[in-house]
Amino acid sequence: MTETLITTGAEETRSFGKKLAREIMPGALICLKGDLGTGKTTFAQGFLEGLGAARPYVSPTFVIMKQYDLPQAKNGIKRVYHADAYRVETKDFVSLGFSEWCTDTEGVVILEWPERVEKLIPKNAVWITFTAKSENERELKIEN
Ligand SMILES: Nc1ncnc2c1ncn2[C@@H]1O[C@H](COP(=O)(O)OP(=O)(O)OP(=O)(O)O)[C@@H](O)[C@H]1O
Ligand SMILES: [Mg+2]
Repeated sequence: MTETLITTGAEETRSFGKKLAREIMPGALICLKGDLGTGKTTFAQGFLEGLGAARPYVSPTFVIMKQYDLPQAKNGIKRVYHADAYRVETKDFVSLGFSEWCTDTEGVVILEWPERVEKLIPKNAVWITFTAKSENERELKIEN
């Protein structure tokens, strides 16, 4: 299924992240694809908020992955792995444990820059492609 929507402003993108958090199932992998500054982290922060993860919601660009253990399980989800492959190579991502995060049946993975490690991405992933349409408008194309 493909769905396309336009958001106006970061807050709206964050709300869609929150909305996805209500629908997602444990074991899911969400791939956030798109150029620099198109709203991937903003979306992921809404997603984390929707799942009740404890702040701060940092961008994982420099830490590669931040794990959030949820204070209260939601829909059977106990952990969120927020990862960013911008600065890593495929082999490093494997050593860091990407496959383990993806096979955690009580976790969900939300990944920025998935195209950097495309070979590792399982077929059942949800893809969201972000495109800047103007300073405050972003197109989100959701495929699953
Ligand atoms: N509709 C919108 N949705 C999301 N962000 C928006 C929107 N309009 C403007 N912005 C701004 O665009 C920027 C998005 O930054 P964000 O860190 O989420 O991008 P990113 O895709 O994660 O970038 P990077 O590839 O560097 O990790 C923010 O400064 C935000 O305020
Ligand atoms: Mg980011």
